[in-house]
Amino acid sequence: MVPTAEEFDVVVIGGGPGGYAAALYGAAAGLSVALVEKEKVGGTCLHRGCIPAKSFLETASVNRHVAHAKEFGIDAGSPPVDFAVSQARKQRVVDGLWKGLAGLIKSRKIASFAGTGSLGPEHAVTVEGSDGSKTALHGKHVVLAAGSVPRTIPGFDVGGPIMTSDEVLMLDRIPSRLVVIGGGAIGCEFASTFADLGAKVTILEALPKILPGLDGDVANVVVRAFKKRGIDIRTAVNVTGHTPNDEGATVVHFGDGEDLEVDAVVVSVGRRPYADGLGLRGTAVATDARGFVVVDDHCRTAEPGVYAVGDLVDTPQLAHVGYAEAILVIKQILGEPAMPVMYDRVPWAIYCFPEVAWSGYSEEGARAAGYDVVVAKHQYRANSRAQIIGETEGLVKVIAKKDADGTAGQVLGVHMVGPWVTEQLGQGYLAVNWEATVAEVAEFIQPHPSLSELFGETMLSLTGRSLNA
Ligand code: NAI
Repeated sequence: MVPTAEEFDVVVIGGGPGGYAAALYGAAAGLSVALVEKEKVGGTCLHRGCIPAKSFLETASVNRHVAHAKEFGIDAGSPPVDFAVSQARKQRVVDGLWKGLAGLIKSRKIASFAGTGSLGPEHAVTVEGSDGSKTALHGKHVVLAAGSVPRTIPGFDVGGPIMTSDEVLMLDRIPSRLVVIGGGAIGCEFASTFADLGAKVTILEALPKILPGLDGDVANVVVRAFKKRGIDIRTAVNVTGHTPNDEGATVVHFGDGEDLEVDAVVVSVGRRPYADGLGLRGTAVATDARGFVVVDDHCRTAEPGVYAVGDLVDTPQLAHVGYAEAILVIKQILGEPAMPVMYDRVPWAIYCFPEVAWSGYSEEGARAAGYDVVVAKHQYRANSRAQIIGETEGLVKVIAKKDADGTAGQVLGVHMVGPWVTEQLGQGYLAVNWEATVAEVAEFIQPHPSLSELFGETMLSLTGRSLNA
């Protein structure tokens, strides 16, 4: 006998940032919502990504502070790092956030279903539990938010010293010698963490430079800072394989016959969409050659009433982009005006040391898009707060449209590298998204002394006059 399907306004498949945001925002607007998740709500971001990775970066930051404490008159010596304690602390942070999220889901009266959700014709969703049980759901609307998983490369199957971000985040000791394959955001965050904790780190990147999507000036600051901390950056290299030895280490083969013995290998060569268990037979939902669910600029699939958000679709793989897509979808379901996400302006934040954050065009990108631009850059080394905290590496760079009279007009891009820039980007993001002009933003007062003065100073200098620059 076919069980009667439970009926909801919205059925969400996947409980990561894209999925739980759709569920929470939908429930807050009064919709009846079902949320299907096969593991724990919170997804990659909370359990195997952003939160645990930044928790370890904070351990690295504390270690750096202790190492430099003597400069401030506090001689703390060189205390050992007990990474098992760091691991336990990270887990407490993750578990606390997970319980908070689970509580919120419950208090919003969202119906939670444990299992793998798959979509069939006419918005029918089947939830298969780990015990093989099946539950039938039906949504007037369905949101697919099954996320992504790490990509691997041939010859580097996970196991022993070979890890992806999933396994690295579970380590309870610091590997003494580490190779990171892929110098993107994930690779650079792990390289930075473990170098600060005393590991000998090598990055092997296939392209001619690490962090290939970044503005050139910003990437150069990261490269210099990494090299100063002893991180060996090898670019334009091909990784060909590895040979494990008896001691649990392995020899990585790359380039023109080069070998490197290491205790751990982090494969961070990107993430692939995880549409594997979604079914989709008998629906018009399509996936592209790389496995992404195909959507339009409103996150609509080809099946009416079925949407897809987050890492499952080919947009920036960032938790906050998943949130924005979820809100866009729920607004459409509610029949409200909904503006597509402007993907070329989303805020980006990489939490390595030094931190990187940006919104909008890079200088290279703006010129390639045909803009005539005016550019200003200012260094943290001249900023009073940066000197006070002892972190003077980095810069703020603003790219503005050149108006007909040659002056700087609309702000096209704001790029930052240096102390706490992930927290400072906010006003740069507002400027870019509000399509503000340099003159408008330069009017705003920044607190003194503060790191954010450098942003104000950079804008002011673009008006043709400045204070400190
Ligand atoms: P990614 O695509 O950003 O970087 C992967 C890097 O690996 C690229 O530089 C690529 O050229 C290189 N690569 C690919 N195959 C290679 C090979 N066989 N040998 C050597 N190098 C190779 O991917 P990543 O860093 O894994 O991150 C995945 C996604 O998660 C990205 O979209 C990223 O932006 C996002 N993310 C964002 C974070 C943040 O904003 N803080 C943090 C972590 C991830």
